[in-house]
Amino acid sequence: MTETTRPMRVLSGVQPSGALHLGNYLGALTKFARLQESAECFFFVADLHAITVPQDPSKLAGQTREIAAAMLAAGVDPLRAAVFPQSAVRAHAELAWLLNCTARLGWLDRMTQFKEKSGKDKERASVGLYSYPVLQAADILVYRATHVPVGEDQKQHLELTRDIAAKFNTDFKAPDHFILPEPLIEGPGARVMSLRDGRAKMSKSDPSDQSRINLTDSRDVIIQKIKRARTDPEVLPDRLEALAGRAEADNLVGLYAAMSGETKAEVLHRFAGQGFGVFKPALAEVTADRLAPVSAQLNRLLAEPDEIDRVLQEGAERAAAVAEPVLAETKRVVGFWRAGAGT
Ligand code: TRP
Repeated sequence: MTETTRPMRVLSGVQPSGALHLGNYLGALTKFARLQESAECFFFVADLHAITVPQDPSKLAGQTREIAAAMLAAGVDPLRAAVFPQSAVRAHAELAWLLNCTARLGWLDRMTQFKEKSGKDKERASVGLYSYPVLQAADILVYRATHVPVGEDQKQHLELTRDIAAKFNTDFKAPDHFILPEPLIEGPGARVMSLRDGRAKMSKSDPSDQSRINLTDSRDVIIQKIKRARTDPEVLPDRLEALAGRAEADNLVGLYAAMSGETKAEVLHRFAGQGFGVFKPALAEVTADRLAPVSAQLNRLLAEPDEIDRVLQEGAERAAAVAEPVLAETKRVVGFWRAGAGT
């Protein structure tokens, strides 16, 4: 099949570390729900990636269920998309080994996320953390995914995935074996920033819980956090360009637009000339209203772990049914022994 006629197959992973926030919801989860309308989708909890840094064994499974529940609460439909834990589909780890032998040290040495995550004491980082992008390549290639929705920070890992796929196809003279995936990356303008600093991304690693809105936050907490969000003393302008240099104001206007489904220009048109004393309560209301059904559904699911487990189990079976044949074919291309293939 050629590139143009191949149906779109979407895959993405989310790490099971800490509670999800509004940035994850808008940046990833709602996008997943939209993509399932037009493409075959695979969304997994990246628990194999999580253990590249120490994890508490008594919490890992619960955190995996939490991410799955958040996907479902955001509208991912397990009848359309396969939702599963990465560790439940063996083909990811097995293909990762084969690709470790294709990827070059020099390529991994350039990965900026490893440099950031390993910090000053690189000697103490796990080998898994170093090889993390190769596992990510395996996640994608083992499904022959065509499109991968990820944040800006994952662009380099997607490029590496393409490099690994191309080298494997060339080395083994199997030009069509792996599909080179396209990233689906939203521009930095679509990013949700911290409520305390309009120049920093909303993040689960920010020590201040006031900096983010968690999907499990109650209505009152959401309203409080928005009222305390950092702003400036000016009124809102009537034109978008006038938000330049006002990172906090820009972020809150963007948030309003995302929550109400309007454009930023429409939001400004309505609030031009008003100060934050008027704008913040309005923003707090739309945000709390929009997230209320999501957090209600999330809390309902978290109280029903058996229901989540059924989704994960079924998702893993469907995913394995796609991944296993690709892995088997890859092993054949590499030339491994197979019973009965000697004649
Ligand atoms: N590394 C990704 C992140 O931190 C998570 C991830 C793992 C992923 N495997 C993937 C994303 C495969 C897309 C495709 O966001």
